[in-house]
Amino acid sequence: MIGTANGYRVSITGIGGNAPERVMTNEELSQLVDTSDEWIVVRTGIHERRIAREDEALSDIALPAVQDALEMAGVSGPELDLIVCATVTPDMAFPATAALIADRLGSSEAAAYDLSAGCTGFMYGIAQAYGMLAGGVCRRALVVGGDVLSKIVDWSDRATCIVFGDGAGAVVMERVEQGGFMGFELGADGSGGMQLYLPAGGSREPTSSATVAAHGHFVHMNGREVFKFATRVLVSSAEKLLDQLGLTVDDIDLYVPHQANIRIIKHAVERLGIPEEKVVINVDRYGNTSSGSIPLALADAVRERRVHKGDIVLMTGMGAGLTWGSGVMEWTEEMAA
Ligand code: UT7
Repeated sequence: MIGTANGYRVSITGIGGNAPERVMTNEELSQLVDTSDEWIVVRTGIHERRIAREDEALSDIALPAVQDALEMAGVSGPELDLIVCATVTPDMAFPATAALIADRLGSSEAAAYDLSAGCTGFMYGIAQAYGMLAGGVCRRALVVGGDVLSKIVDWSDRATCIVFGDGAGAVVMERVEQGGFMGFELGADGSGGMQLYLPAGGSREPTSSATVAAHGHFVHMNGREVFKFATRVLVSSAEKLLDQLGLTVDDIDLYVPHQANIRIIKHAVERLGIPEEKVVINVDRYGNTSSGSIPLALADAVRERRVHKGDIVLMTGMGAGLTWGSGVMEWTEEMAA
């Protein structure tokens, strides 16, 4: 789907990012699997990632980001009327982590649900919240994107465990007078679903001792195929949306791509023709945090004062599904973390 803004203007009015304290270096990983710091840096650009403690779940990692976002927006938990949590690693299959977050925030008036669109989840989440805000169904939304992939990664599989990390970001979205979201382009190609999936634990293959023994509860990824898909859609999705909006890459002030692999980002940047100084990159420090990737990177950019009132921001995500999604917005006001 592709669409341009219609209805009330809607923007991000607060943002926060958070990752667990524990840092895992490539050196440490090379003690676990047959790999090296050099291989990981050359093939992915990742130097280190954050890993959750055993007792840390998604909501624990997301809450500090949520609190920062609410504080920046000057919105309290009870004032929220929508909470969307994009993740593939909720605290538990149900209830929704969004409902658990609502409880922690005292958001008793809010609709709260989780959304599953792999690493694209945050883009889908902000597009949904946009629709509800622009259509006047709600006034103050919180969109959380976050994952704790360390809990579902096979730590004996060197082709996947080196790529992922844990982290979360959150944005408050509200109606505004100026700027805001200009449009979205989102899509899914289920024929590629088995390129990146978690086989067991659902209704297709319920949990059993056999699924556990077969490593069915871990991420399975065909890295090369996902890589090809990523390089294609990061470019095509952005181009389609810019074209629909009557914009060119020269209009973009800040580009926030999904932080999957530095080679994927560089390919997109080159093909789109966006100057490097406009690109937000933190994959070197966090790895691929899935749904946490884009809000964490955007939160970094805000903290570093790289985004200003009136700037045009392009975000594009891709991931399991296979899914992809882009959004373009005009930044509404100066923000300081
Ligand atoms: O958010 C969306 C989710 N995922 C992604 O975006 C991931 C997209 N894919 C990738 O980033 C890359 O495909 C990887 C980083 C996962 C792998 O890099 P690659 O350049 O595609 O490597 P490859 O899978 O083609 O493997 C090349 C070689 C293989 O050896 P042979 O068959 O050529 O002898 C692998 O066995 O590298 C080997 N290899 C490793 N060697 C050292 C694979 N993983 C490792 C490793 N350390 N960790």
